[in-house]
Amino acid sequence: MADLLYPWLKALHVIAVISWMAGILYMPRLFVYHCDAEIGSKQSETFKIMERRLYKAIMTPAMIVAWIVGLYIAWDRQFFAEPWFHGKLAMVVAMTAIHFFLGHSVKAFAADKNRHGHKFYRIINEVPTLLMIFVVLLVIVKPF
Ligand code: HEM
Repeated sequence: MADLLYPWLKALHVIAVISWMAGILYMPRLFVYHCDAEIGSKQSETFKIMERRLYKAIMTPAMIVAWIVGLYIAWDRQFFAEPWFHGKLAMVVAMTAIHFFLGHSVKAFAADKNRHGHKFYRIINEVPTLLMIFVVLLVIVKPF
């Protein structure tokens, strides 16, 4: 990849990551309040629309762009052998698992079949926050 392109691709990666993280940190908050909304109420139906659009129109496309551009940069710059990249990859795989879990919860709420309470989603909210902090430290500081 021409050196000229590299910073543009990295910028695209970071823009996609910011959009993905905005959604993955906001979605559990929607679930916390959705848990208290009465099934069938106008409020619950509004939450369903917000959750579906956030997941399908923002989180999932942003995650796909973050993965494709990130893997391309890693391949081009030969980062696959780097220990910091192994740590980062393990964390973003965990982040991706949380993404799909939240997608599963969007479907459960849409079918009025959510089984978890607001405390559960408050705790879930902390996991991607911690992962994000470690991912950013690994990729910028490259401690090992
Ligand atoms: C989804 C899979 C991901 C892959 C394959 C990936 C891969 C990469 C690669 C190869 C770079 C270039 C590193 C360099 O040039 O020094 C990079 C940069 C970056 N990544 Fe990711 N990444 C992913 C997800 C994430 C996530 C989830 C975050 C944040 C939560 C993140 C934050 C960053 C940041 C801030 C940079 C810029 C680092 C710098 O300019 O020094 N990435 N990523």
